[in-house]
Amino acid sequence: MPLVTTEKMFKMAYKNGYAVGAFNVNNMEITQGIASAVTEEKAPLILQVSRGARDYASNSFLKAIIDVVVAENPDIPIAIHLDHGDSFETAKQFVDDGFTSVMIDASSQPFEENIRVTKEVVEYAHAREVVVEAELGQLGGIEEDVVGVKDISAHLTDPEQAVEFVKKSGCDSLAVACGTSHGAYKFKSEPKLAFDVIQKISNKLPGFPLVMHGSSSVLKEFKDLINKYGGDMPDAMGVPEEAISKAAKMAICKVNIDTDLRMALTAKIRQVFAEKPSEFDPRKYLGPGRQAIKEMVKHKLHVLGCAGKAAECM
Ligand code: 13P
Repeated sequence: MPLVTTEKMFKMAYKNGYAVGAFNVNNMEITQGIASAVTEEKAPLILQVSRGARDYASNSFLKAIIDVVVAENPDIPIAIHLDHGDSFETAKQFVDDGFTSVMIDASSQPFEENIRVTKEVVEYAHAREVVVEAELGQLGGIEEDVVGVKDISAHLTDPEQAVEFVKKSGCDSLAVACGTSHGAYKFKSEPKLAFDVIQKISNKLPGFPLVMHGSSSVLKEFKDLINKYGGDMPDAMGVPEEAISKAAKMAICKVNIDTDLRMALTAKIRQVFAEKPSEFDPRKYLGPGRQAIKEMVKHKLHVLGCAGKAAECM
């Protein structure tokens, strides 16, 4: 039974102080790169699909690619997850399509409305043995807050509210705002995560799995290649890997990574285009991109501490 929910993964991750990597997939090469990394490292896996990914690749294609990964890896527990579902209808659609985990992100709504929508998704999903991730607090904008502490606390998850939210909504895991943001430009100066917020929430909700979005590190290797070969990302900055490892040892059980995959693929494609301008075989530039993703994900699995943990999560 390799297609699983995140329940057992999170239980083991919490207990043993690691986090499971949740990687965004949009096409075959990205998925294959991730899959071969977890196969070699024997790590549990969450493959996540956003609505945008599904609009790009179509549900049937993405699902078919994921089904192959699941079929070929009977020893790897794999959860398939909707990333940032924006409404009950979206979440319902993904539950109906066989996803084992869905996120409902109503974090931009008022607190009570966030609880109401999340609870509605929870009731539908739980009746079908699907787990639900919710979000409280808002990501992004943290770079401005490096100047003034006041603004940082305005974006971060309130630990008191987190307790009430989890109890009232019935969600299975909670994405918290702890200083990260999506994309390649997370900080303007020194990266800073609010570990105290993670600690306070876990003190109030012992054993409850937390999720960290916006966790790409914007690896120097790929940033440099992109900038060297005609790209323009000089100010890109991510979350240092030591901070990811530290969070993974705390209550963070799921770490979301998308930007690092995109940058690995883009860097290698740019390199091939620049060094071999006569090349026009897609296999010759997508292949190196896929290989770079594989190596990068293998490394991440050690940063997260989940390498070698597949068996205990089955
Ligand atoms: P990154 O942009 O840091 O990779 O975050 C991805 C993410 O959180 C998807 O939900």
